[in-house]
Order: sequence, then C-alpha cells, then structure tokens
Amino acid sequence: MSVINVGLGERSYPIHILHNADYGALLRQALPKTTDLMVVTNDTVGPFYLEQVTASLEKSGFKVSSHVLKDGESYKTVESWWGILSALLERNFARDGALAALGGGVVGDMTGFAAAVYQRGVPYVQLPTTLLAMVDSSVGGKTAINHPQGKNMIGAFYQPQAVVAALKVLGTLPPRELSAGLAEAIKTAFIYDEPFIRFMQDHSGAVFTQDEAVLTHIVERCCAIKAQVVEADEREGGLRAILNFGHTFGHALEAYLGFGTWLHGEAVGLGMCLAAALSLSRNLIDEDYYQCIVKLVAACNLPVKVPDGMQGSDFIRLMRHDKKVRSGVIRYVLPTAPGKVGLFADVSDEEVIAVVERYIRGEYPPS
Ligand SMILES: NC(=O)c1ccc[n+]([C@@H]2O[C@H](COP(=O)([O-])OP(=O)(O)OC[C@H]3O[C@@H](n4cnc5c(N)ncnc54)[C@H](O)[C@@H]3O)[C@@H](O)[C@H]2O)c1
Repeated sequence: MSVINVGLGERSYPIHILHNADYGALLRQALPKTTDLMVVTNDTVGPFYLEQVTASLEKSGFKVSSHVLKDGESYKTVESWWGILSALLERNFARDGALAALGGGVVGDMTGFAAAVYQRGVPYVQLPTTLLAMVDSSVGGKTAINHPQGKNMIGAFYQPQAVVAALKVLGTLPPRELSAGLAEAIKTAFIYDEPFIRFMQDHSGAVFTQDEAVLTHIVERCCAIKAQVVEADEREGGLRAILNFGHTFGHALEAYLGFGTWLHGEAVGLGMCLAAALSLSRNLIDEDYYQCIVKLVAACNLPVKVPDGMQGSDFIRLMRHDKKVRSGVIRYVLPTAPGKVGLFADVSDEEVIAVVERYIRGEYPPS
C-alpha cells in the first residue's frame, strides 16, 4: 500500500493505492466527523461493488445511502447531475454529509460537481474503479458534466477529501477500458518522465493480466506526477495544460465519430500520434522518438489510424470548438524530447491540415 499526498494547503488530500481496500477505515480518516454518506455509482459498477463497499463503510460508523446512475458518457448530463442533487434533498442531507463516487471518470466527474454545488459545497471522496480514473480523473479536482454543445463544458474545480484506488476492482474491467486507461498513463510518461516511458514499453502488456506490481507502479507514478502538476497549477493557468497532450486532436476525433463511438482514451492515443507527427514535421523530435510514441500507443491496443473519411480540415473545424481554444488560437501540446512537451500557439491551420493529410497517406516513418 502506498499513499501519495496532493499538497494544496487546506485542500490537501491523500491518494491511497492498494490491492484490496478497507474503504470504511480509510474514509473514516478522511471524513472524521461525517455520519451521512451517499455513495454514487452506476448500474454496471453497482452490482459488482456497492454491497461490499456499503458494508465496509457501515462497519466504520457511516450511515450509508446510495444513488445509482445509468452507465455511460451519454448520461453525463444535467439531468443525471440534477438527479444526484434531488436524491440528496430527498434524504435531507445537511452540509455535514458527504458523497463518495464509486466508478469511473463519468461517475467521478458528476459526483464531484454535485458535491461542489450542493448547499454551496459538501465534502466528497473518489473511489475510482477504472484504470483511467485511477491514473487521471480521480485526482486533481476537475469536475464536470457535458452540455449538448460540448464535453465537460459545465463544471468546477473542487478537490476531494481523499482518493482510494483499490486495484483489485480492475479485475472486472473490460480490456478495451484497460487500454483507454493506459492511454492516459503513457501520456503521463510522455509529458513528464522518460524512465516511465521505458517502464511502459517493457510492461504495458502486463496490465491485461492484472499484474499487481505493474499496476501498482503505473498508478503510483501517474498519481505522483499528476499531484505535482496540480500542486504547481491547480486551476490550469499554465503548466497543467500539458496534461492535455493528445487531447486537442482527441476531442476532435471523439466529436467527429460521435461521443462514445471511440473511448476517450482511444481518441487520446491517436491524438498523441498526430501531435507527435506535428512535432516531427517541425523537427522538434527525431524519427526514433516519433516511432517510440506511435509504437507504444499501438502496443496498448489503441488505434493509430485516422478513421475512414476524416480529413485534416475536419480536425481544425472540430478543434475550434474545444473549450481550450483561447481567442481563436489553438494551442498544441507537442513532444519536444522523451518525457518532455511544450505548449505551442504558433501552429497554423494549414500546417496541421498538411501534417494530418500526410499522416493519413502513411508518409510518416512506418511504425
Ligand atoms: N476530471 C478529470 O480530470 C478527467 C480526466 C480524464 C477524463 N475525465 C473524464 O472521465 C470520463 C472517462 O472515464 P472512464 O474512462 O473511467 O469512463 P467510464 O466512467 O464511462 O467507465 C468506463 C466503463 O467501465 C465501466 N466500469 C467502471 N469500473 C468498472 C469495473 N471495475 N468493472 C467493470 N466495469 C467497470 C463503467 O460502468 C463504464 O461502462 C470522461 O467523461 C472524461 O471526460 C475526467
């Protein structure tokens, strides 16, 4: 078991990483005065884990209720979020109650946003059950719901009181979801940590056999790095933007295909390849490192080919909708060396279109 601290002054909190969690004991430490605790989960995760989590929490003296959402990104809506708030009101939750998000990033983001606004803010904890949520979304306090006009458009920065990542629950996660989580893990390596790139090259396959040592190292490394980045830039004024490596192209892919067709991590995987191609064409990186990125994405069983019919101009059109576009300028996170990226605001639409078209035609070095 390890504990990583996210150091944000009075908003600091621990991330517990372990195989099998005693949720009750850990949450009692995080929420010493709480009695009422509502666990928010969904109708896929709930049947696996809600009963056992509830029993553990009750043993530690919590009065537990639950709220079960419909599963899927398409339910990350104002209606689902309103449903959480209504459930809290129906149960007469006061400001001394707390929420626990038991699920992947969708449940975590929505529960966090409900906690941020219920009676102007109640405490919450993250109990992530996907690899993506363990390595990324449960840490850092970004909470949100989708709007028909864009993903994660409505939300708040609101830090949890604790994160408990119990690796054992990944045993029921489908392989495609493991790959999507690996996308965010290799992203973390590419942006921050050259030795971690080598670790992922050697060990990413072991994730699919639930190798405990490998999973532990991946979650620990990612949480430690994310904690450092968030500590330096909690509200994404600067450095935190590097976490968006692969995401600008990725969001365009998700929007083009219709949200949910590709998993977020799958789109980020190809997005990192396209960003790497842009770097290569600017001579920011060499061919070896370009190939390292594309090969590692492919080794995680993530797509490296642009969907049929999609063109360079489609990326530009859709990227212009991204909430991170500031005053009309698309800022690209581009690799500059193994374990390093930079933020570039000087990339023209024509340059991007040309790179994407060349990538589609297979004119970059074979991977
Ligand atoms: N807040 C952030 O910083 C941040 C960062 C990255 C992504 N996100 C958000 O996270 C979301 C994606 O998260 P995700 O990839 O975890 O998706 P998800 O929450 O949709 O979970 C993926 C699927 O796995 C199922 N599942 C979850 N845990 C399971 C388990 N242990 N066993 C079996 N099935 C399980 C879920 O029900 C779902 O069907 C997106 O909405 C994205 O915007 C947020």
